[in-house]
Amino acid sequence: MQLIDGKFVSAQIQEEIALEVDALKASGKRVPHLAAVLVGNDGASETYVASKVKSCEKVGFSSSLLRFDANISEAALLKVVQDLNENPEIDGFIVQLPLPKHIDANKILLAIDPDKDVDGFHPANVGKMVLNLPCFIPATPYGILLLIERYKIETAGKHCVVIGRSNIVGFPMTILMGRNTYPGNCTVTMTHSKTKDLQAEALRADILIAALGRPEFVTANMVKQGAVVIDVGITRVVDTTKKSGFALKGDVKFDEVLPKCSYITPVPGGVGLMTVTALLKNTLQAYYNRMGTTEKLFFEF
Ligand code: GUN
Repeated sequence: MQLIDGKFVSAQIQEEIALEVDALKASGKRVPHLAAVLVGNDGASETYVASKVKSCEKVGFSSSLLRFDANISEAALLKVVQDLNENPEIDGFIVQLPLPKHIDANKILLAIDPDKDVDGFHPANVGKMVLNLPCFIPATPYGILLLIERYKIETAGKHCVVIGRSNIVGFPMTILMGRNTYPGNCTVTMTHSKTKDLQAEALRADILIAALGRPEFVTANMVKQGAVVIDVGITRVVDTTKKSGFALKGDVKFDEVLPKCSYITPVPGGVGLMTVTALLKNTLQAYYNRMGTTEKLFFEF
């Protein structure tokens, strides 16, 4: 069994990005600029956005955090998006989800310029992803692909089972693992809340991706001996022994699943850290695209 060390890979890739930024600075060029829009004060969203901004600073990007009250109107938020689309200093931006209920998130995501959509949520990017064309791949799925690639995990001909079909992780993961590329070329099964016998489906997986957001849902009796297990879950559960008052739990019952795996991602220290790193890679790509640089290719697998 080998632990997939998201902390190590994330640091390695961020170091590579930082070196590219150093080279840009040395040649007198401006640096990439990521903006993040945060509406309201949801605890988890605050943590994620703070980590995105901090990581930008670490690699030498410029960053802007635009905070708005939870009662901002949909029209006002659309204006914020429009301004970011038109701002020549911004290479890419994200609108942190979830948004308050009175705002139609799809309407906001559709308003984002696909060329600045470093979250890869705009239908133009989703469509290109399906067709295996250059695009921004959503950060968490992209982070998972980077882990698979860095650990040289074989994917061709494998059976990949994805649990969960969210727009942010599960659905794009099923598309990406089936594409005719590496990582990819899997036979893919998408499972969800209406799946009849989830245990039987999960047991067929050579690569099991758990992205349903239910702490410790995947137990040892759902995992085939030798499977690769990717745990996307990151749920806060109350833990009075911790200073913060909560612990982070994955979707996989780690201790009992561990002995059965060939590879497994821990929580924390696995996929979570890769999301920010993948976002930085997308931002660097957006920057190169806007600068008209041709040496850099989207998604270099
Ligand atoms: N909320 C949870 N994950 C994400 C993400 O990757 N991007 C955005 N914008 N919001 C999220």
